This record gives sequence, structure tokens and C-alpha cells, in this order.
Amino acid sequence: MSEKKLALVTGASRGIGRAIAKELHQKGFLIGIHYNSSKESAETLLQELGDGLLIQADLSTIEGCDKIYEEIKNAKIPLEVLVNNAGFVKDNPIFNASLEEFDQMVNINMKTVWYLTKRLMRLMIRNRSGRIINISSIIGSIGNPTQSIYGMTKAAIDNFTKTAAMEMAEYGILVNSVAPGFIDTDMTKDLPDDHKKMILDRIPLKRMGKPEEIAEVVGFLATSGSYITGTVIHVNGGMYGG
Ligand SMILES: NC(=O)c1ccc[n+]([C@@H]2O[C@H](COP(=O)([O-])OP(=O)(O)OC[C@H]3O[C@@H](n4cnc5c(N)ncnc54)[C@H](OP(=O)(O)O)[C@@H]3O)[C@@H](O)[C@H]2O)c1
Repeated sequence: MSEKKLALVTGASRGIGRAIAKELHQKGFLIGIHYNSSKESAETLLQELGDGLLIQADLSTIEGCDKIYEEIKNAKIPLEVLVNNAGFVKDNPIFNASLEEFDQMVNINMKTVWYLTKRLMRLMIRNRSGRIINISSIIGSIGNPTQSIYGMTKAAIDNFTKTAAMEMAEYGILVNSVAPGFIDTDMTKDLPDDHKKMILDRIPLKRMGKPEEIAEVVGFLATSGSYITGTVIHVNGGMYGG
């Protein structure tokens, strides 16, 4: 059995999650590389890291969370870090957005974050140790035209972080959110040029962030920051200070 502790990163196949997986691997964790549809890219990451636990699951469903729980439990490696990173956005003005889009974003960004945490926290409680890091978004704090549903789910995550931190403190488990600003990933690559320019104009550092710049903050919260819990750390080039 590996002596390393396990860090599960949801949505580790691409973008921010992939960078977080690499960062935590460098810090000595065995990585639970969760993916949904990007199998090839998750397998490439596993090859790059040299070890890890590949877990496929659809996080728009409760069954997907149960599958992850069973695989983590059966691995019999102490779960030290859970990074709830997987996320989905569909831009649409309120008058155009559908209930289907609403359910999809609520399920992936919010409902299964609560449920997966609820299930996995028992494993951490048993060890009296753990770090839970929820990837929320600047949009949960400031709103954004066409992202009413996405913003609601991300605001909810930051609130969940606060309550979870209060409930889990007595078990030695720290819970925090990292709220990225605009980061250069697949999620933002299709933004229309005029929208991108409008955003860049609002960022004092005048550029989008890199996934690695989110990952290094997650790495800190996963291994240091022993007096930080229940907080939201904003990483956005100065666009919003919290
Ligand atoms: N990029 C930004 O500017 C930005 C800003 C603020 C917050 N965030 C947040 O940061 C997190 C990562 O974003 P990103 O930019 O890296 O996004 P991304 O490049 O679009 O990657 C999304 C990740 O989420 C996973 N995912 C999507 N739907 C899923 C489902 N139904 N079940 C399981 N996994 C699913 C994907 O897995 P597969 O590809 O394997 O399906 C992928 O690994 C998200 O929570 C996002 O809301 C991003």
C-alpha cells in the first residue's frame, strides 16, 4: 500500500483541476484523478504523474458521487484533501435560460459538491484530519450578465464553505473556498472578443490568470494555512477584493 496520502481533485482532466492535480502531486500526495468525459486527457495526466487513482464519474448525478465514494473507500489510502473543482457554465440571459440549464448547473456546481463532501467527510473525520477546498468563482460575489444561474451556484458554494468549516473544525478538518477570476481555460476560450476586452479592462493586472496561479493557492491551503478555515480566497488579478 502507498504511504502517500490521497488528494482527490474533481475535474482533474482539464484546466484548473489539472493544474491543481499537478501541484498537489508535487507536494507529495497521491492524486485521485477524477474525470467525466475527458478520458484520454485524464489518462495522459496519470502517465505524466507516474502514479494516481483514475476515477470516472458523472457529477451531475448522485450515483456519480456514490461511485467516487466507493472507489476512494476501497483504495484504503487515507483521504487528506478533497478539491471540489469540477464545474459547468452555460451563458444565457435570464429571459432565455431554460430550466434544464438551471438543473444542470445546480446539479454539477452545487448539489453534488454538497453530497460528495457529505459522503467523503466521514473518511476524514475518521482520521481527525483533512482539508476541503471548494473552487467557487468571482461571479458568485459580483454577478455577471448571462451568468445568473452559474453565479447563484458559486455564491452557494462560498456559503457552504462557511458552514462546513464550522461543523468540521472539531474534527481537525479545514474548509475553504478559492474563488478564481477569469482564468485561461476551455471554460473561457469561447468568450466573444468584445466581452473578453470588457473583462480585461476591469482587471488591474490586465491579463487573464493561469490555472497554475489558482493551483498554487490550493497547494498552500492543502498543506499550510493551519489557522485558515471558513474563508474565501479571491485570486483575480485585482478585479475584486472580497
Ligand atoms: N476558467 C475560469 O475563468 C473560472 C473562473 C472562476 C471559477 N472557475 C471554476 O473553476 C473550476 C474549473 O474550471 P475550468 O475553467 O478548469 O473548467 P474546464 O476547463 O471547463 O474544465 C471543467 C472540468 O469539470 C469537469 N466536469 C464538467 N462537467 C462534469 C460532470 N458532469 N461530471 C464530472 N465532471 C465534470 C470536466 O471533466 P471532463 O472534461 O472529464 O468531462 C473538466 O475536468 C470550475 O468549478 C469553474 O466553475 C473557473
